[in-house]
Order: sequence, then C-alpha cells, then structure tokens
Amino acid sequence: MSKESTNGANIAERPNLQTIYQTEHGTAVLGMAEDYLETMEKESVDLVMTSPPFALLRKKTYGNLEQKEYVDWLVSFGPLVKHVLKERGSFVIDLGGAYKKGAPLRSLYNFRVLLGLCDDCGFHLAEDFYWHNPSKLPSPIEWVNKKKLRAKDSVNTVWWLCKSPEAKANVSNVLAPYSDRMKKLIQDPEKFYSKAKRPSGHDIDMKFGKDNGGAIPPNLLQYPNTESNSHYIRTCKAIGIKPHPARFPRALPEFFIKFLTDPDDLVVDIFAGSNTTGEAAEAFGRRWLSIECNREYVIASAFRFMEDWPESDIADFVEKAKTSKHPIRVVSKQATLF
Ligand SMILES: C[S@@+](CC[C@H](N)C(=O)[O-])C[C@H]1O[C@@H](n2cnc3c(N)ncnc32)[C@H](O)[C@@H]1O
Repeated sequence: MSKESTNGANIAERPNLQTIYQTEHGTAVLGMAEDYLETMEKESVDLVMTSPPFALLRKKTYGNLEQKEYVDWLVSFGPLVKHVLKERGSFVIDLGGAYKKGAPLRSLYNFRVLLGLCDDCGFHLAEDFYWHNPSKLPSPIEWVNKKKLRAKDSVNTVWWLCKSPEAKANVSNVLAPYSDRMKKLIQDPEKFYSKAKRPSGHDIDMKFGKDNGGAIPPNLLQYPNTESNSHYIRTCKAIGIKPHPARFPRALPEFFIKFLTDPDDLVVDIFAGSNTTGEAAEAFGRRWLSIECNREYVIASAFRFMEDWPESDIADFVEKAKTSKHPIRVVSKQATLF
C-alpha cells in the first residue's frame, strides 16, 4: 500500500477517491471529504480552512427541515475534522448569511453550526471573525432593493475553532498596515502625542508610539472579492471551463494560514472548490491537501499553479486529467529546467 507524500493518508484502496495532481507542496484529491477524512492519520493536520457549499440554503423551496438537515450534515464533519487535527490545530469555517424563506428574517443556521460544532463535537470558539466584502452587490433583491426593508448583507461569519486553548497562533504574522495617524505618532511621538484619557478611561502611554511593524488586526477582515483577471480566470476562459462561482478572495485563507500555521505545516481544505486555500498555502511554504467532489473544479484549480505554462501544455493537462488514474505533477516550468 502506498502512502500519499504530503498528507499521510492512504487512498490506494478507495476507488471513489483519486489524487488528480500534485505540486511541490500539495495534493489535490477528487472525492467526498467525508470519505477522504476517514483515510487520514489521526492528529496530522495543523489547519482546516474551508467554506462549505451553500446549495441547500439557496434552494427556493428551502424550509426549516431542510435547514436542519443542512446544519446536521455540516456538523457531521466535526468529529472527522477533530480526529485529523493536531491538538494545537485549528478549524476555520466561513459561512455566508441567509434569509428565511419568504420573510425579511435571518436564518440562524450559521450560529447553529457553531453551536453544533462546539456543543456536540467538543470544539472551542477561539475567536469569531467577520469577513466584510465591500464589493458585494445588494441582496436579497426583495428585502433590500425592492421593499427597502433591510441593509445590504455583505459580511460572512468566519468561525475560528480549536481543540485546545493552546491552539497555535501568532498575530505578529498578520499585522495590519498602520493608519496615517499612527505613522505620524511613530515618527514624532512628542509632537503628536498628548497624554489624555481615552473615552474608555484608559491612559495611553508612550510605548504605543513604538514601531512594531504594523497594527494588531481586528477580527473584522475587509477583503473585496473582485478578482477578474487572475491567471486562474484567464486560463479558465482560454480553455473553456467555467470558473468556480463561489471562490474565496485569496487574502482570506492567506490571513488564517499566516496567523495559525508555520512553514511546512499541513493545511487542508475539505470543500476546496477552485483551491484558493491550496494556492495561498503553496505561496507561503505550507504543505496542503485539497478535497473537492467535482472533477472539473479540481482540474481547473491546477491552473493556479501553472503561471508559466504554455496554453498548449495546460490543454494537454486538462485532457489527461479527465481520464488519468495517476496523479499528474504540476510544477513551475522553470523548476523543471534545473
Ligand atoms: C463554497 S465552495 C468552496 C470554494 C472555495 N473556497 C474556493 O475558493 O474556490 C464549496 C465546494 O464544496 C464542494 N463540495 C460539496 N460537498 C462536498 C463533499 N462532501 N466533499 C468535497 N467537496 C464537496 C462543492 O463542489 C464546492 O465546489
């Protein structure tokens, strides 16, 4: 029985799981995450970073029972993820908000998922994050655009869950740029600092004028999702494949990968889609594993690692990946010259 190099899983005897391609640091698997997670070694993963499919919530006929089924389905991944996570590992799950059917009332499904993962599966909430996408179009049309009853929904909840309070994390790796005001204060503290109590009653002392390389980031992450001319998008168009419709902006997985892992750690996306997580992990020298059940999405996700590939080689890869039973190596063409 052969072992997969990057992730310690053994899929040799699972006909419903297939490694489609491998890069320098990662492995892209076609299959159902629940099947693959079962094959993985216990406590082998440092970070699971993912965004599940929202299909059930989008269905026009969506009712309470279906919502409960969706929550139960998602929470059923909790024990599988917990099993493969290291003791100091993290599980980060991005969940878009939704309205109840036929009323301007919010679904509580994302909070139920959080409660299920904590109360039923034993995860802890390390911190709740909110991803604000300023480029989101106003929706839902009925309540926002037509009846003007609700504000536009442009924030996703991102739950950072952990197994232990000692979860690995280093906020110094994700410092935010200083504000202009802070930059001035650092340049000339005497001129720009006046000792006064803040409205909160806290005394600000001069050590706040020290340059730490950036500001501690807030748990509100602001990333527009406006990618339209990346290599991935351009190649999808050139090859005639539809780009994945619900991609992360790369900055989102990048933030959590830098924050919660070290180089060479293993990052897994269990609902990988176009493998934005894998791309971010590869760029920062983390090992990665992506699991996605749609073959076309897995094949197209390889474009992310083919920046310097001629289009004809990419087209050959696509044809091969449709039928090949063996993992295809996807590395920079530059790397193969040496
Ligand atoms: C919201 S998308 C993820 C998008 C991804 N974050 C990106 O940046 O491209 C969720 C993906 O999960 C996949 N999926 C749904 N159920 C799955 C399962 N049981 N195992 C693996 N993948 C699944 C869907 O095909 C879909 O591509």
